[in-house]
Amino acid sequence: MNTSRSMRLVQATLAVIYLGAGASVQAQEVDVAAAEALAKKSNCTKCHAVSAKKDGPAYKVTAEKYKGKTDAEATLIKHLKTGPKVKIDGVEEEHQIVKSKDDAEIKNLVRYVLSR
Ligand code: HEC
Repeated sequence: MNTSRSMRLVQATLAVIYLGAGASVQAQEVDVAAAEALAKKSNCTKCHAVSAKKDGPAYKVTAEKYKGKTDAEATLIKHLKTGPKVKIDGVEEEHQIVKSKDDAEIKNLVRYVLSR
């Protein structure tokens, strides 16, 4: 067997494995800067922080609550798009609706919350 030919074969195989792994990592990747910018623009930061409890639960607490739940993303996307009633200091009001109509952008924000 020609050595340089088999080396090329190994390299090509590794490249395929590498690309495959890269794609799956990318599917889960969160654009932190974009998520934080959207959270700021949507006033989320007024009531939420990553670790500290404000009027709303800390993102870490929410991430813990939804850990391992397969419908976590869908549930939170709905939460942010529909603005369900929540209680703030005993007073019921509608939850803030996210200031974006772009599903990919909203999903990125939800993934950001769930990955804290
Ligand atoms: C005026 C205050 C306020 C603002 C602004 C606000 N939230 Fe909330 N949020 C709350 C409260 C209060 C809850 C708790 C609801 C409950 O536990 O019933 C909550 C709950 C949540 C939850 C958890 C939902 C769940 O099912 O556990 C997430 C995630 C969340 N908010 C994200 C956001 C994001 C993202 C934004 C910006 C688009 C935002 N919030 C803006 C007050 C706020």
